[in-house]
Amino acid sequence: MISVTNPPEVRTGGSHRDADPTSSPRRTVLELTDVVREYPGTPPVRAIDGVSLRILDGELLAIVGPSGSGKSTLLNLIGTLDRPTTGRVAIDGVDTGVLSDPALAGLRSARLGFVFQQFHLLAGMSAVDNVATGLLYRGEPKRARRRRAIDALERVGLGHRLGHTPNTLSGGERQRVAIARALVGDPAIVLADEPTGNLDSKTSDEIVGLMHDLNAEGSTIVVITHDRELASDLPRQVTVRDGSIEHDSVPPNSMPYDSTDDRQVAP
Ligand SMILES: Nc1ncnc2c1ncn2[C@@H]1O[C@H](COP(=O)(O)OP(=O)(O)OP(=O)(O)O)[C@@H](O)[C@H]1O
Ligand SMILES: [Mg+2]
Repeated sequence: MISVTNPPEVRTGGSHRDADPTSSPRRTVLELTDVVREYPGTPPVRAIDGVSLRILDGELLAIVGPSGSGKSTLLNLIGTLDRPTTGRVAIDGVDTGVLSDPALAGLRSARLGFVFQQFHLLAGMSAVDNVATGLLYRGEPKRARRRRAIDALERVGLGHRLGHTPNTLSGGERQRVAIARALVGDPAIVLADEPTGNLDSKTSDEIVGLMHDLNAEGSTIVVITHDRELASDLPRQVTVRDGSIEHDSVPPNSMPYDSTDDRQVAP
């Protein structure tokens, strides 16, 4: 079990694979290039207006912006739940534009983990079974799925609540189960959409602490939020406004990335 008792401000980002983000080149796990998303209408709404963004393996960052700035639209694009009108979205080196919908769904299951404000756990199902659903796409035997689900729950500090159903867990514990489900398949990126939006401030701090701990163990985590205070607890803030990046606290290409990743690889 990992400790979640340290306050977030004493932690730093990075990963066990590369503790110093300014040292050796790191893999690009997400690259958006000149991404535009227009919703049809008269006139059409340009919700995302030419966004380019690179996220490296082992980062912990916030995409932060006010209501209507384009956060959900961006989340859907990064999460491959939606396709850009123009521009390119590459996940872990794979250009999603060349993939069929089923291939894209496969990529999403294997390389992305999702955490939502509303937890989205299955009622009446134990914590272990909820987490094990994150592995169904792999076709692994039930025993192996269960073993990995238990490991993931232990990582988020819930080893003592394995058999609990969501209605017998606190809000913070439910979000930990959801985080375990997102992590269990060892995704390239965990996308967390307002992960503390339904939690009180103490529980929010614990969840932010947990994200720091998981990041220190190597997970790449992107938090989408309107909460500037939450964003400021994370090592990198990308601020969006009116569909564009207004500010990135880590300027583009200031971190050394492995440029051989820029070649397109097979999914
Ligand atoms: N399906 C849609 N059709 C037309 N316009 C849309 C659609 N979805 C979103 N928009 C518009 O696109 C812009 C960005 O919306 P988006 O939902 O991405 O913002 P957001 O940052 O997530 O806001 P919030 O914090 O309120 O959730 C807004 O101006 C919104 O009105
Ligand atoms: Mg939104």
